[in-house]
Amino acid sequence: MDLAIRQATEADLPEITALFRNTVTAVNTKHYNAKQIEIWASVANETSKWLERIAEHYFIVAENDTEIVGFAYLKNGYYLDGLFVHKDYLRQGVASALLRTIESQVMVEDFPEIRSDVSITALPFFENKYYEIVKKQKKNFKGMVFQNYIVKKTL
Ligand SMILES: CC(C)(COP(=O)(O)OP(=O)(O)OC[C@H]1O[C@@H](n2cnc3c(N)ncnc32)[C@H](O)[C@@H]1OP(=O)(O)O)[C@@H](O)C(=O)NCCC(=O)NCCS
Repeated sequence: MDLAIRQATEADLPEITALFRNTVTAVNTKHYNAKQIEIWASVANETSKWLERIAEHYFIVAENDTEIVGFAYLKNGYYLDGLFVHKDYLRQGVASALLRTIESQVMVEDFPEIRSDVSITALPFFENKYYEIVKKQKKNFKGMVFQNYIVKKTL
């Protein structure tokens, strides 16, 4: 696949939120229950928060010739707060390309390590990228408990 990585703009908002909703619903559903997925997917509707993330964070998208096939963003310069790939383009290296760009940005900003809270679904991907588990945790989000993992990698 021919991929281009670029910074997100406000105009990408509908594609980003649709991708997020579809991926959570179709992919994360393997590891979280229906109520958890409903709550998680509803984050797609928080338009002002997404606009703020795009405006204030390092927020990148991966595009093929026709559409956005993945996105990722950093918070506080070193914390990967989101990494999502389009449900129809999994296992084609999209997340790998996004993560390479994200890690380069963290290094450019002179942070010694990158951290993230990652889903059960995403853990094998991060292990493949040599991230180590700091902690397995139960995170409270909108009244539901979600199991996930804090991971880190020295850069
Ligand atoms: C996790 C995620 C971002 C990976 O995206 P991807 O583009 O499919 O990942 P890549 O193709 O770059 O994968 C690189 C390698 O990671 C590993 N990997 C990725 N997904 C995997 C999976 N589901 N199971 C096992 N290993 C996996 C493999 O070693 C893979 O290489 P291979 O395909 O040659 O075997 C994607 O599955 C996703 O969006 N998941 C749902 C959203 C999510 O949970 N995001 C994290 C939020 S905390």
